[in-house]
Amino acid sequence: MSTEQSISALPPNHRLFDGSVPKPWVESLEQYQELYKESIEQPETFFSRMALKHISWSRPFTRVKQGSFEAGDVAWFADGELNITYNCVDRWAYADPDRIAFIYEADEPGQGDKWTYRRLLQEVCRVSNVLASFGLRKGDTVAIYMPMIPEAAVAMLACARLGLVHTVVFAGFSAHSLAERVQDAASRVIITADEGLRGGRVIRTKAIVDEALATCPTVERVLVFRRTGNEIPFNPSRDVWWHEATAKHRPYCPPVPVSAEDPLFLLYTSGSTGKPKGVLHTSGGYLLGASMTVKYTFDVHDGDIFCCTADIGWITGHTYVVYGPLSLGSTSVIFESIPTYPNPSRYWKLVEDYKITQFYTAPTAIRALRRQGDSWVDSCDLSSLRIIGSVGEPINPEAWNWYYKKIGREHCVVVDTYWQTETGSHVITPIPGAIPTKPGSATLPFFGIDAVILDPVTGEELKGNDVSGVLAIRSLWPSMARTIAGDHKRFLDTYLRPYPGYYFAGDGASRDKDGYYWIRGRVDDVINVSGHRMSTAEVESALILHPQVAESAVVGAPDEITGQAICAFVTLKDEVVNDNINAELVALVRKEIGPIATPKHLIVVNELPKTRSGKIIRRILRKVVAGEADQLGDLSTLSDPTILDILIKKVEVSI
Ligand code: WT7
Repeated sequence: MSTEQSISALPPNHRLFDGSVPKPWVESLEQYQELYKESIEQPETFFSRMALKHISWSRPFTRVKQGSFEAGDVAWFADGELNITYNCVDRWAYADPDRIAFIYEADEPGQGDKWTYRRLLQEVCRVSNVLASFGLRKGDTVAIYMPMIPEAAVAMLACARLGLVHTVVFAGFSAHSLAERVQDAASRVIITADEGLRGGRVIRTKAIVDEALATCPTVERVLVFRRTGNEIPFNPSRDVWWHEATAKHRPYCPPVPVSAEDPLFLLYTSGSTGKPKGVLHTSGGYLLGASMTVKYTFDVHDGDIFCCTADIGWITGHTYVVYGPLSLGSTSVIFESIPTYPNPSRYWKLVEDYKITQFYTAPTAIRALRRQGDSWVDSCDLSSLRIIGSVGEPINPEAWNWYYKKIGREHCVVVDTYWQTETGSHVITPIPGAIPTKPGSATLPFFGIDAVILDPVTGEELKGNDVSGVLAIRSLWPSMARTIAGDHKRFLDTYLRPYPGYYFAGDGASRDKDGYYWIRGRVDDVINVSGHRMSTAEVESALILHPQVAESAVVGAPDEITGQAICAFVTLKDEVVNDNINAELVALVRKEIGPIATPKHLIVVNELPKTRSGKIIRRILRKVVAGEADQLGDLSTLSDPTILDILIKKVEVSI
C-alpha cells in the first residue's frame, strides 16, 4: 500500500459513523493496517486471540498453526477440540433461547416461519439421534440433497453434532451428478425431501435421488423430509420419513467433541478436468474463517438480520447462510425462491419485510434485476440495509454503481468479496468503515492473507504496485481446504505445486497503483456462469456421450447477465443428418450434469481448430466467441488455417 493518500481520498461511507447504527468493528484504514500487519507477521498471536474470542473450545488448543504449503500438511489448532453445532446453536440457545436463528422465506411469499435458537437446537438434536440410530459414527459421510429450507441447515448441523462429514449436493444437479458425488464420498445415508419448489415449479427431488441410488451401493438409508406432501416413490425397507423418525427421539443429543482438524464437510467443485473434486474442510479453522468474515466483512452486530441468497449447495451457502451467521448468534434468512418470483421486487420486499441489515448476492442477480427497471426497487423500503455484498464473479462497475446507488442508496457499503470453495471464507474483501471501495475491485486482503501477484510464466513475485499476473497466497490461513477427498496428490498438483511455496488460486489478477486487487477471472479451463464454476471438460464429456458426436470443445462466451455463458462446439461423425441435434445435445447435458450446465450456444461445425499434433486450440474458439476474431494472435501452430473463415461465419450466425 504505497499511495495511502489516494486511497483515503476516496469518499467515506458516512452511514456507518453517523451514530444511527453500531460503530464498525474496524474503524479506520490505519486500524485495518495494524491488525493486518499483525495477522501476517505474528499469525500465531493474532489467530490464537481470534480463536479464543470467537470459538468455544471443549479442549483448548496449545498449538496454533503447523505445516507448510511445500509439504501440504497444513493444520490449525490441531490439539484443540470443539463441536461445531455447540458453537453455532447450543451456546445461543442457552443464553437467549427465543432469539431468531433462521427466518425462512418460502417459495410463496408470506409463507415460511421463524426458527428460534431453542427450536433449532431441539430439531438438530432429534435429527442427530435419528442419524445415530442408523448406526452412523464419527467420520462417516452423509449426503444432503435438499431444497433451500431450514431443514437443510438442520441436516448439516445434525451431522456436525456427531462428527459426521456432510456433503451437500446442490439440488439442481442431475441424478448422474448426484450419484458421482455420493459414490466418491462413499456416503452411507442421503438426507433429502419429497419435492422442492422454486418459482412455483415443482422439482421431483426424491425421484432424482432414487434414480441416483441405482448406482450407489454404499447408501443404506434415505431420510426424507416432507416439503410438499405430494405422492412420491418410497421404498419402506430403505427410506425413512423425517417427521416419523424424529418423533421417536428426544430433542437432546450430546454434542461429540472433535479435533479441530477432523473433517467437517466435503463440497464438490469443478476443476479443469472432468471429475469434480471433493474439497475437504476441517472444523476449527473453517469455523474461525466463517465467523471472522461475517463479523468483519459484513460488520455484523447483535440484532442484525443477515441475508445471503446463495443456495446451501454452494460454499457461499455453507459459510454465509449457516456456519458464519450462526457462529455469531446472528439471525440468518433462508430464501427458498428465486429473485423474480412472483415479480422482480422479491429480494427488495424481503429486505423491507424483515428489515435486513446485510444483504449478499451475486453480480448475475444484480445485473438481471437492474435490467428489470428501477420501479421494482423504488417501491420498497430499503432503509434497514447497512452492508450489501457481491460474490462469485467479477462485478462490472455499471452493476456495482447501480447496486450502490439504487439498493444501497449511497449510504451502504458495497463489499465485493473474492474467495473460493477452497478458501472457505473471504480472502480479498473490503472491510466496511476501514477500507474505502472502488467499483469493480475486491480491494485488499483479509486478515491472515498474504496475497501476491506472480508472473504466470516464471512464477516470480511481482513486487510493488501496478502489476498484473496470477493471484497466489503466501501465508497459511485457518479456513483453507486441507485436501481433496481421496486424492491428496490432485490437491497438491492443483493448488500447491504450480508455484512452490504458494497457494495458487487459478485466477488472473492485477494490483493497481493503490495496492488494490482486481480479479480478472479464471486462467484455467474453468468458466464462471452466474457465479457457478463449470468445468469445460465436464460439459465436453457429456456432449461426447451422444452417439453422433465426434468431438466437442467448450469455451466461455462473454454474457451480459451471467458473466460468461457456456458455448459448445461439436463436430459430428461422418454423414450424419439430424435436424434435432442441438435440442438433443442440450437435453443430454442437462440430464448428465443438470440445468446449470445448459449450453447457451451450441454450434455444429465441420472442423475444430487444431494443432498439427491434433490438439484443439480452445484459445481460438474463445477469441472468436468473444467477437475478437481480429486478434487471434499467433496462428503458426494451426494445422489448417482455411477453416477459420467458415468457423467465424458460423459463430456470427449462431451467437
Ligand atoms: C471462483 C470461485 C466462493 C464464492 C462463490 C464461488 C470467482 C468469486 C469473486 C469476486 C471476482 C470472483 C473466481 C474464483 N470469484 N468471487 N468477488 N470477484 N471473481 O465459489 O465456485 O469456488 O468459484 O469464483 O474466479 O476462483 P467457487
